[in-house]
Amino acid sequence: MPPTFFPTPAEFRAWHHAWSAYRSSLMKRLLLLLALGCAACSRTSPHQPRYGEAMGEVGRRFELAGRAAAANRFELAAFEVDEMGEVFSQLPRAELPKEGDAKVLPPMVEGFRKAELPELARAAKDKDGRAFADAFARAAAACNACHVASGHGFIEIPPKPGKPVPDVDPAPSG
Ligand code: HEC
Repeated sequence: MPPTFFPTPAEFRAWHHAWSAYRSSLMKRLLLLLALGCAACSRTSPHQPRYGEAMGEVGRRFELAGRAAAANRFELAAFEVDEMGEVFSQLPRAELPKEGDAKVLPPMVEGFRKAELPELARAAKDKDGRAFADAFARAAAACNACHVASGHGFIEIPPKPGKPVPDVDPAPSG
């Protein structure tokens, strides 16, 4: 049959069939993409830290910084303070804790980054044990202020370098 401008019914059916198959496979791929996207967005992305997890790291590093400074290991103290700074810089993106008053957190994170961390870092760099102990006590007070304000006052940070963080010394009973 000579080629004509209009498709024959058989050609038309073949095209229509191919197009439908293509369209439905496209639709399936789109749905799969949407499903994957939603699975990813409903879960916490690996880059969004959880508050408690980040704080666990802050606590460990603050304790280490204090123990290091108390042992004249100021380079280690400086390193731990620097690492704490990294955790604090990620806190604004962290998933807020469910309990307590979460809206007090962002300004207190900023305050801590601007006031407490630079003092700790400077004292460690200067290898100045007394300045470090002073900065440590002020930082611990700031940690505790935020814990109280956010409804976590029972997480007490000791003011003296070299002690376990948080404080697990026996509390007065009653
Ligand atoms: C901006 C407020 C804020 C500041 C500043 C802050 N914390 Fe916290 N911290 C919290 C909150 C909120 C929690 C509870 C997190 C949760 O509910 O999972 C917490 C929990 C903790 C915990 C318990 C973590 C766990 O899961 O066992 C430790 C340890 C801790 N903080 C240490 C510190 C230390 C040390 C500092 C100061 C160097 C500090 N925090 C400063 C808000 C703060």
